[in-house]
Amino acid sequence: MAYKTKSWRKEMRVTVDYGYMMKNVMGERGISDAELSAIKGKAKNAFSYVSENRGKDELFMGWTELPYNQRAIVADILSTAKEIRKKFKYFVVLGIGGSALGPSMVFNALKHLHYNELPKSMRGGPAFYVEDNVDPTRMAALFDVIDPAKTCFNVISKSGATSETMAQFLIIAKELGKRGVELADNMIFTTDAARGNLVKIDKKYGGKFKKYVLPDGVGGRFSELSPVGLLPAAVLGIDIKGMLAGAAYMDEICSKPDINKNPALLCAALQYISMEKGKNINVLMPYSDRLKLMADWYCQLWAESVGKAVDNAGNTVNSGTTPVKSLGVTDQHSQVQLYIEGPYDKVITFISVKNYNVGMPIPEGFEDIPDVAFLGGHSMEELIQAENKATAYALMRAGRMNYTINLPEINAFTLGELMYMFELQTAYAGAMLNINTFNQPGVENGKKATFALLGKKGYEALKEEMDAGVSQNNKYIV
Ligand code: PA5
Repeated sequence: MAYKTKSWRKEMRVTVDYGYMMKNVMGERGISDAELSAIKGKAKNAFSYVSENRGKDELFMGWTELPYNQRAIVADILSTAKEIRKKFKYFVVLGIGGSALGPSMVFNALKHLHYNELPKSMRGGPAFYVEDNVDPTRMAALFDVIDPAKTCFNVISKSGATSETMAQFLIIAKELGKRGVELADNMIFTTDAARGNLVKIDKKYGGKFKKYVLPDGVGGRFSELSPVGLLPAAVLGIDIKGMLAGAAYMDEICSKPDINKNPALLCAALQYISMEKGKNINVLMPYSDRLKLMADWYCQLWAESVGKAVDNAGNTVNSGTTPVKSLGVTDQHSQVQLYIEGPYDKVITFISVKNYNVGMPIPEGFEDIPDVAFLGGHSMEELIQAENKATAYALMRAGRMNYTINLPEINAFTLGELMYMFELQTAYAGAMLNINTFNQPGVENGKKATFALLGKKGYEALKEEMDAGVSQNNKYIV
């Protein structure tokens, strides 16, 4: 059944305004119509690659089907979430990378900005925390605000081998044990269907844990619309069907191989041309506190997907642009000076919101002080929107390419659209670059070195090599 009415969905359509990228509007430093036309063939091939390989687990393209193939899972998640909301005072996600950034982003975007500080009667659901980092002070601080016995812990790890998540798991398991709580009563695993250490742990406990599956063809950074994101969101009372419907709507919008009709393909093409023009920084600047963590989520999606040493033919390419998270208007008073006058090495993507749904009028007053008085009679919504437009304009006038993604408002549906659009954009860009978008070989060396330093079996030689390196490095400490 379609989500809401056709006209409502149309009203909620996310659009892209890219005038300030183009030579016709911004002058010499922009993209010419000819350059944009020239990329159409490559973009079309990227579109074909993504379309032809939709849903293929072996290519890690399973995420494309998440809006469509989870009916039973969604029903199960909704009933589990209902129980959790009744039974637990706290809900804590243990996970890192793709397992944490999505749940944090959706929480930030769709719940009250001071959710945990609201009284339970206003929140409706449990207090919510996402523990990704292994800073010990953070774990200690968590224990100051939760009672583990009254907490549902959602351990999210596809491999069950991620040191950070498993260290957290061990600490929590001990704390629950000390309180005489059965682990399976207070823990839910979101993990691989058959492989991985969480599956082994569950077997040890006779299969008692409630488990959700992170499907084979869905990598961590593309997993927010799977149970990774859906369970935490449902526990928060978020409309997860709306999120999936928004993603499906964006999929429909992006069903054409033409950059003029497919916003995700257009954005991929703009990013690709910018790379070719030597821009190596990709700033995402939402004008909304509620989308602040969208920039964090996007940075991982883009960085791990496009930053690759070699292309599919084995040529060294060292591809990618560095994503930077920024926040409007806050960073106008921090980074925008550099964006406007620093090197011509960035493309800035704004996310603008048409309706904040909270006008917040600015009262009139202090008529004798013009610098203050002019604000009166406007609203904070008008102010943030004016500053957004003004910054985009100022950047354009300074010859800095920027484009704007317009959100009619922030809700589960538009957030689903935005997520899916960024995922498609990333997949298209990876195909245009002819790289493997879905692996992350670069992070493996760091993981192995951590194993060596902590004495994991099989990493003795690496430990010796590192110790030798450290003694060399000691010469360079001042
Ligand atoms: O995008 C990715 O695949 C990574 O960021 C993973 O999500 C992250 O490394 C956590 O991995 P795992 O789910 O195996 O614990």
